[in-house]
Amino acid sequence: MKHVLPVSWTEAGGRARVGGVALTELAARFGTPLVVVDESHLEDRLARFRAAFGADAGLTYAGKAFLCGALVRLLDRKGWLVDVVSGGELELVRRAGFPMRDVILHGNAKSTAELERAIDYGVGRIVIDHPDEVDDLGKAAAAVGSKHRPELLLRLNVDLTPETHEKVRTVGPGTQFGMSPPDAASVARRITGSGRWRLTGVHIHAGSQIRDPALFSRVAEAAVGFVAPLRRCFPERVDLDLGGGLAAPYRDGEEVPSPREYAEALRGGLQRAGAEARLGAYRLIVEPGRSVIANAGLTLYTIHARKRLDGAGEALAVDGGLSDNPRPSLYGASYEVLNASRARDEAGRTFRVVGRHCESGDVIAPAATLPGDTAVGDVLAIPGTGAYVFAMSSRYNGVGRPAVVFVRDGAAREVVRRETDDDLLACDLTLGSPEPACGTRPEPTRGARPVNVAAGSAVASAVRP
Ligand code: LLP
Repeated sequence: MKHVLPVSWTEAGGRARVGGVALTELAARFGTPLVVVDESHLEDRLARFRAAFGADAGLTYAGKAFLCGALVRLLDRKGWLVDVVSGGELELVRRAGFPMRDVILHGNAKSTAELERAIDYGVGRIVIDHPDEVDDLGKAAAAVGSKHRPELLLRLNVDLTPETHEKVRTVGPGTQFGMSPPDAASVARRITGSGRWRLTGVHIHAGSQIRDPALFSRVAEAAVGFVAPLRRCFPERVDLDLGGGLAAPYRDGEEVPSPREYAEALRGGLQRAGAEARLGAYRLIVEPGRSVIANAGLTLYTIHARKRLDGAGEALAVDGGLSDNPRPSLYGASYEVLNASRARDEAGRTFRVVGRHCESGDVIAPAATLPGDTAVGDVLAIPGTGAYVFAMSSRYNGVGRPAVVFVRDGAAREVVRRETDDDLLACDLTLGSPEPACGTRPEPTRGARPVNVAAGSAVASAVRP
């Protein structure tokens, strides 16, 4: 189980701790659901990637996996770049004070406003996803009136089939990202011919949660195979951005390649293909997200109900689920579950751990083995939830998004606060203030239908009959 847990995880005196702080204490202090991030785990991962790839590689964190100001500042201190995929992510990174030249902007449907903002802010690199985007960029630059010209990379859709969930495969026929090599080649010639932009390299992201290092070698070979015949379109040292995709372990016993094996697979492919094609100088860029943050994080929930299910054992219903972690429903993702309140007790009974949302599919773990005396009020910890969990959370059923705390050396700091009911309702322009001024509350309407409100969620405007 150890490789699924944050590095600072300990269990002493029956209390599970991360970063030296008891998980039950975190739950009591910050409430649940709560995302806990072990800063020492995070730093350890960043250091392992640096050691594996070397100082000259462009280590780029894929912001879509999980993003907040505290993380962005850490990435800056460690000399990482950040990839963003929307104006919202770009804004977050900028407000965290991150150097804009170290930002890579992606996206298969960037808006004019996003392109304008990227140029205005001085973003370092933009990945061109489709042929018309070069014209869009020209218009954006003219509208902004800025002389800044981001370096351009071309995103390629190459003919590979990574072994991973089909929903996170991003190359191959039918996928909506990047350009076929012939289309990309004509865009490369067009950009170089125009002299208005600097085309500095190519980008391939084959997919996510990839366990076979051989796939990464094939990605590297595909990049070289594209660039070599067009070598004159690129600078002397061409950027080869080979995306992210390294898998993270979710279940006990699940093996995944290390950052070193990942680096060796990419470098091996580049060296072999590069020598054969006389590629010349290049700079390797990678964009890991999940493999950096997934196991640094865990989610805490409080059990609100324990009950027998008709013919299906027993269920534990917790105070979160689909809205803070849609991955089990979307991808059939499978997690370990630990009882942080009874870390000392032998796990011997199987429970179905379900969320609080009004869907039968809101199942966090269909068969978690936990201590038999697991009870209402206990705190459950779900490890491996640092990536694509908080980032994909929603407000379904009027449940606000959880808080995020960073822990290290016995201290916890809240870096993202929990969403309140006021946050949830802030964009609804037809609602009044939370406390209507005296006399302004509408008279109850005769015959109005009752509104069904799930406990604790906010529907402040409901008019009762
Ligand atoms: N670069 C690009 C262009 C990407 O699209 C992605 C992920 C990455 C890098 C980082 O990939 P990673 O190292 O994290 O595998 N929501 C899904 C994962 C979607 C991945 C999207 N792109 C999940 O929860 O499994």
